[in-house]
Amino acid sequence: MKIIDPKVYHKMPEGILEGDEVKHYKKYLKDVKNLYKYEDEELNDSGTIMYEVHSYGKGDEDKKGNLFWGLTVMNPVYIKDECNMTRGHFHEDLNCAEFYFGLQGEGLLLLMNKDGEMWAEKISKGSLHHIDGELAHRIINTGNEVLKVGACWPTVSGHDYKSIEDKEFPYRVFNNNGEIQLVAR
Ligand code: PA5
Ligand code: NI
Repeated sequence: MKIIDPKVYHKMPEGILEGDEVKHYKKYLKDVKNLYKYEDEELNDSGTIMYEVHSYGKGDEDKKGNLFWGLTVMNPVYIKDECNMTRGHFHEDLNCAEFYFGLQGEGLLLLMNKDGEMWAEKISKGSLHHIDGELAHRIINTGNEVLKVGACWPTVSGHDYKSIEDKEFPYRVFNNNGEIQLVAR
């Protein structure tokens, strides 16, 4: 029998996911500028990093039952007071639920059902959020520090962004001098 070192650490409270097999991507403002109410040429060249996603999974991604472990890191960036947000998505397989959990910072988890009804849960350090497989989900950084949100979801979930592009979340989130406002589109 042997005892081996873990391959990945989810360092808490630092909230860093690291290891050789951890995948990583960055979303720049120019990639996601279409999400915001205020659109302008100046957003095109911006090297501003809005959010980064790290994920780790083992085994065949197409095999039911396998899981991803992930971390989303969202910078405190505002586009004319509108809060930094992820693209938001439904899962392609609506049977696949997901867990989110707050590690650092303050935010909102927007949830929306297939009829377009939306509600939100507050994210903060230690908050745990069960996302039913049939709900669209989007993370918002409402604070002035980096927001870190951990996640665990089935590898077969898939990400359906198209449905959100076709029918957006009905409210935008703004921070007006510290006051969080949900504004209907
Ligand atoms: O799988 C998830 O729900 C997360 O890892 C998200 O993909 C991540 O938060 C980024 O959000 P989105 O994929 O909506 O841009
Ligand atoms: Ni998801």
